[in-house]
Amino acid sequence: MITKTEHGEFHLHTKETSYLFRVLPTGHLEHLYYGRRVTTQTRNLALRSKLTHAYGTTVAYDTTPEFSLDVLPLEFSGFGKGDFRHPAIMMTQGNSLLTTDFRYISSEIVPKPSAGWLPLAQNAPTLVVTLQDAVIGAQLLLYYTVYEESDVITRRCALVNTGNSDLQVNSLYSVMVDFMPSDYCLTTLTGTWGQELNRHTQPVTAGTMTVESLTGLSSNRANPYICLHEPHCTEQSGVCYGVNLLYSGNFQAGVQVSPLGFVRLFHGLHPSTLPLTLATGERFDAPEAALSVSHSGFTGLSHHWHDFVNESVLPAHFRYAPRPVLLNSWEAQYFQVSEARAISLSQTAATLGIELFVVDDGWFGKRHDDTSSLGDWTVNHKKLPHGLSGLATRMKDMPLGIWVEPEMISTDSDLYRAHPTWVIQSLGRKPSFGRNQLVLDLTQQEVRTYMIDVLTTLLTEAPITYVKWDCNRPLTDVTAPQGFYHRYVLGLYEVLTVLTNRFPDVLWEGCASGGNRFDLGMLSFMPQIWLSDCTDARERLRMQSAATLAYPLSCFTAHVSDSPCHQTLRQIPLQDRFHVAAFGVLGYELDVTALTNEERKQVTAQVRFYQQYREVFQYGRFYRLSTNDKTIWQVVSENQSTSIVGFFVDRVTPQMPPDCIRMAGLKPDALYRVTAMRHPLPLRVFGSLIYRFVPKNIKIDGVAHKTLNRVMNLQTEAQQFVAYGDILMYAGFKPKQSSAGAGYDQQTRLLLDSSSRLYLVQEVTEET
Ligand code: DGJ
Repeated sequence: MITKTEHGEFHLHTKETSYLFRVLPTGHLEHLYYGRRVTTQTRNLALRSKLTHAYGTTVAYDTTPEFSLDVLPLEFSGFGKGDFRHPAIMMTQGNSLLTTDFRYISSEIVPKPSAGWLPLAQNAPTLVVTLQDAVIGAQLLLYYTVYEESDVITRRCALVNTGNSDLQVNSLYSVMVDFMPSDYCLTTLTGTWGQELNRHTQPVTAGTMTVESLTGLSSNRANPYICLHEPHCTEQSGVCYGVNLLYSGNFQAGVQVSPLGFVRLFHGLHPSTLPLTLATGERFDAPEAALSVSHSGFTGLSHHWHDFVNESVLPAHFRYAPRPVLLNSWEAQYFQVSEARAISLSQTAATLGIELFVVDDGWFGKRHDDTSSLGDWTVNHKKLPHGLSGLATRMKDMPLGIWVEPEMISTDSDLYRAHPTWVIQSLGRKPSFGRNQLVLDLTQQEVRTYMIDVLTTLLTEAPITYVKWDCNRPLTDVTAPQGFYHRYVLGLYEVLTVLTNRFPDVLWEGCASGGNRFDLGMLSFMPQIWLSDCTDARERLRMQSAATLAYPLSCFTAHVSDSPCHQTLRQIPLQDRFHVAAFGVLGYELDVTALTNEERKQVTAQVRFYQQYREVFQYGRFYRLSTNDKTIWQVVSENQSTSIVGFFVDRVTPQMPPDCIRMAGLKPDALYRVTAMRHPLPLRVFGSLIYRFVPKNIKIDGVAHKTLNRVMNLQTEAQQFVAYGDILMYAGFKPKQSSAGAGYDQQTRLLLDSSSRLYLVQEVTEET
C-alpha cells in the first residue's frame, strides 16, 4: 500500500514493514523510517529531524544555518550542496564537474512500469517521485515498488536530460538509504571459484565499506546481496536489512558512516559501467534494487527474499514449477562425449528414476579440451554421429539437455576465423585469455543476432528441454565507447529475452564457472543457477546455508558427485552427499554406470524420496536451525503438515554431547510423527573394529568382507515417535545418543565426519 498524505509524507507499507519519507520545505526528501510496520499519522512529527543550530563545520543549504544536508537522513543525495557523504549521483558537463541539487516537483502512484530489461512481475503499485535540478536541466525519477506480500520494496531511478546540452553521468546508484546513528554490522557474501558465498560479518565503523565487481559479471568475488543488521541479530531475533541488485554486471554496494554516525547504504551500478552521455531529451535507467527488512532476524529476512524471488523474480512460466532431477555428464566424462556413452549414462539414469540427461561441454566443434571450438555450435559428428536429435531419439523417453557457452569464443574456431572483430578487444593490445577463450562483444547487434540464431537452430533442430548457459571468464580489454560494461549486460538481456520468449518451455540453467554470475538479473530469465563447481558436500553445506540468506532453494542446483570429490579429494558417503544436495534442486553428476548394485539401489531410493517430497524441498519454508559445528536445515510444506529436517555433523569426537533439535514452522497444536530416515552403513566404515564381532581372517574389502556387508546390511539407527508441534518447536526433540567408538547397534546414532540424518516429520491424527 502506498499513500501520500496532505502533509507531504509518503507511506509505503508491506504486510510487515513500513517505509516512510517526506518532502522538506526545500524540496529535498527526508527519509523518516524503514523497519517493522508502524501505524502512521498524516504527519509523523515524532520521526522528523529537529535541527535547532548548526553542527560545527557543516555547510548550510541556504541561509538557514542549521539546515545542512549533511546531517539529514535523505532519500537521494546530490553532490556539492553540503552533503559530504557518498553521493548517489555524479555528473559532468563538458570539462566541468557539476553541483547537483534535485528537488521535488511531483509524484504519482501507478502500476509498476517496466524498465524494459527484465521480465519481472508487473502491476505491483509503484510510487514515482520526480525531482528536478532546474539549473542543470535534469530530472530524476525515483521509483518505489511495493511487493506487499513478500515484504520487499524495490527502488530504482532514471535520469532525464531536460536541458539544452549534453550531460555526462559518472555515477548513479539505484538506491540509497540513510539510517539514523546506531550500531550495525554488515554481512557480505564474498568468495572465488569453488568457494563461493563466504559469509563475512564486520562491524560498521567510521569510513566506508564496499563490495563490488569489476569483472563484467556480478561475480563470485562478491555477490550483490548485502545485509546490514544489528550486531546481535540472530536467526530468530533482531533487525536486519537486506539489499540486492537485479543486475548481472559490475556493481558497487557499500555502507558509509558519517562523522555524526549516520549510516548511508548505497547500491547500484559500479561507476566503471559509466560514464554515459545523455543528449537533450535522453534518459538513463539505473537497474532495480530490492530492499527488505525483518525485525525477526535473518530467518525472517530470508523468507521475504524467498517469497519475492519465487513469486516475482523467477520467470513466470517456472514459478513454483517442479524442477527435474537431472544427470549432468561433466564430472562423469568431461570432454569425452560419445553417443554410446551418453546413451548408457542416460539409460542407467532412467533406471534410477532420474528425469533429465544433460550433455555438458564437449559435444560440438572440435572440442576435445578447453582450447578450441567455442563459437562453433554444430555437433561433432564423430562424437554424436546422429546429431543431438538422433541422440534424443536413442535416449528413448529420457529428455535431453545441453550445455552451451554462447558469450565466448575460442581463437581456434571457425567463428573467430570468420569474425575476428566480434571479440571484445582493446586495439593495440594483445587480448588477455581466460580459460583459453575470449569474450564476444554483445554490444554489437550482429553478434547478438548471431547468438540468437545459433541457439534458435539448436533448439529447433533437436527436442532439447533444458539448456545450461555457461560463462567461464570475466571481461577484460575494454577500451570502448561509453557505458560498455552496462551495454554488454543489456545486450545479454536482449538475447535472453528473445530466446526465453521464443522457447518458453525450455528450462534454462545459469552458470558461470559455478556461481560467478549468481544474481537476480540472471534469475529473472533462468529459474535455476549452478551455485558452484565445488560439489564437495561439506563445502556445499556452508555455501547453501549462505545462499539461502537471500535466495530460495528452488533457484540453486546441487549435485551428488563422486567420492573422492573431484575438487577436494574428500571422501563423503553417498547418502550424506545426497542429504546436502536434496536441499536445493537435486541433480547427479557422476558416472552412474560405475555404481555398484547397492549404490544403484541407494540412488534409486534417494531420487524416489526427493520426488515424493520435491515440492517441500524446492518450495517449502526453509529454516537454518543451526549453522555452527552442526548444520541443521529444515523445510516445511506450505500447509505445515510435512517437514524434513537435515542434521549434518562436521567432525565427530568420542562422547559427542547430546543433541536437542528445536524445529520451526510447525502448527503448535498439531500432532506429528518424526521418523529418522534410515540408510545403509557400509561395513567398511568400521575398519578393524569389526574384529570385535567377526573372525580376524576376514580381510577388509575382501570377498568375505563384501559378502558380509551385503548379508548384514547395516542401517543407521531406527527412531520414531509422535509429538505435538509446540513440543518440537519450543522444547525440541532428542535424537538417539550418538557415538563414535562403541561399535554398532540399532539404537545408537553412529555419526562419522561429514555424516548426516534426515528426519521426516508428518502430521498425524492419532498417536499411533
Ligand atoms: C564450468 C561449469 O561450471 C562446469 O559445470 C562445466 O559445465 C564446465 N564449465 C564445462 O566446461
